[in-house]
Amino acid sequence: MAMDDWQPPTTAPPPEGPLVDTFGRVADDLRVSVTDRCNFRCTYCMPAEGLAWIPKGEILTFEELTRLLGIFVSLGVRSLKVTGGEPTVRADLPRLIRMFREAGPELDISMTTNGALLDRLAAPLADAGLDRVTVSCDSLMRHRFAEMTRRDALDRVLRGIRAAEAAGLTPVKINCVVVGGQNDGEVVDFARWARETGYVVRFIEYMPLDAEHAWERAKVVPSRSIVKAIDRVFPLVPLGPDREPATSFAFADGAPGGIGVISSVTEPFCDSCNRLRITAEGQLRACLFALEETDLRGPLRSGASDREIERRIRAAVWRKWSGHRINHPDFVQPARSMSMIGG
Ligand code: 5AD
Ligand code: SF4
Repeated sequence: MAMDDWQPPTTAPPPEGPLVDTFGRVADDLRVSVTDRCNFRCTYCMPAEGLAWIPKGEILTFEELTRLLGIFVSLGVRSLKVTGGEPTVRADLPRLIRMFREAGPELDISMTTNGALLDRLAAPLADAGLDRVTVSCDSLMRHRFAEMTRRDALDRVLRGIRAAEAAGLTPVKINCVVVGGQNDGEVVDFARWARETGYVVRFIEYMPLDAEHAWERAKVVPSRSIVKAIDRVFPLVPLGPDREPATSFAFADGAPGGIGVISSVTEPFCDSCNRLRITAEGQLRACLFALEETDLRGPLRSGASDREIERRIRAAVWRKWSGHRINHPDFVQPARSMSMIGG
């Protein structure tokens, strides 16, 4: 099916029950971007000079975010990922997490962060009800870390990771975007680090979501080759599938920690995708690579009822396409880069 052939469904979504699409996938994992701003400038995400930030008045307020979350929880969402930009640069984040926790006492609430501010925020966030964190770390070498993030901040991030662990934001997961010719030689070092610390290191294939459109297929390091390289030094055993798109492995000798690979490019997991995303200014996206969005801020600010917002959400999920088109000649990179969507 070429993209030109993709037609939104002409049928209506079921008015009750879980959030389903026409392919039978159930959306129960919500990722909310709480800001598009960031204190890093990772080369695979943002230009050095940053992006034109969304004006403050267009960003959802804590009250709006919490109201939306309540609606999603009533529709069966079970896990919430707080993302950015960099979520910790949103002022007063612990207060927002506390509001989220009240809206979803049973919810699994985690956050993806670059870790630079975790040193002082880990404890207040844990106290507010955050369950765990995923910290991005692309290199264990100071100069390469600085090259990839455009910030000389490896030590701060490592301190932040330790603070998260001490605050009980566990299991600590590490996201490592592997870019060919840059950090691909470090995967075994990351595995050794996982064994020493007990962290779960997840290697993410470089995706065409960078603001500078410098992505090239030649820079994608297939997950399969990463697993092979590590397995040669530290034998791995695959773990059964869970609710994550990552394929997970434990160390065969029973060492702590683990490895995961997220093969978005070479082995897309769209068939089992259970995710929904809300951008900082309240646009619902059914896919990272979606070319269409559903405005939720408009209805929120014009007095729509929960039921009306629910109808909009159901319709948007129902229209979710079968999957991204990275591997098709007609692939179109979305206008938003990763920091404007939220991982
Ligand atoms: N490809 C793959 N991963 C990316 N991330 C940001 N941009 C890209 C990209 N182009 C990662 C970040 C973070 C997560 C939210 O997404 O490093 O860990
Ligand atoms: Fe910031 Fe994350 Fe983008 Fe890096 S990848 S610039 S930390 S939003």
